[in-house]
Amino acid sequence: MIHIAGTAGTSALLGSVIGVLCLDNALRNDVMSEVNAVWNGKKTLDLDALDQLTILNQVILETARLYPPVRFVSQLTTEAGEVEIGEQKCPFQKGTRLLGSIFTANRDANRYQNPDDFDLTRNFSDILSWNGEGHERACPGKSLSIGFIKIFCLHLFHNYQWDSITEVKWDFEKVTAVTPNNLVLQGFAQRL
Ligand code: HEM
Repeated sequence: MIHIAGTAGTSALLGSVIGVLCLDNALRNDVMSEVNAVWNGKKTLDLDALDQLTILNQVILETARLYPPVRFVSQLTTEAGEVEIGEQKCPFQKGTRLLGSIFTANRDANRYQNPDDFDLTRNFSDILSWNGEGHERACPGKSLSIGFIKIFCLHLFHNYQWDSITEVKWDFEKVTAVTPNNLVLQGFAQRL
């Protein structure tokens, strides 16, 4: 389970981050400048290098908000209770399956201004993509997965450059990760 959650979730989010950066030249240039500044001729990176990637951090969080790799949380109730939805209390019996849509919550206009826009200045303190924080079902791999994606992007942008890409198409029909389909990074060459 940990293997599936970790690899599928992280690789899907990484794919979406690359897709987002393909679509936005200005953002990609900002991330590349940040990577170059952090790397700055060093042979090896300090431990705090990842913390210095503040733009990339926001890119990962905003991508995870708009394209959460885990779309739903699902729980079988072990006792009867009630959930509050809006003003209404909805009772449920023991054994009811409760589903929560992270995708929908992440685009809630009551929580996020212009929720469908990509915006790095948002407050991500209660982001639900890793199932929130401070309770037993919260994702224990949040920092690790963000760290992996940062390390990948650091090496990608430091060692390679891409000049052009094929058009990125998002496939909302499939309830899977929103990773670019058939993406080809053309002119993707090793930097000398
Ligand atoms: C290093 C990578 C990761 C590892 C090792 C990992 C591991 C786990 C584990 C063990 C759980 C179960 C926690 C529990 O039930 O107590 C979990 C839950 C969860 N993870 Fe991760 N995860 C990783 C990456 C991600 C990523 C990239 C995302 C999404 C951005 C994510 C989203 C979630 C969500 C939403 C849950 C709650 C699922 C549910 O309760 O139905 N995880 N993770």
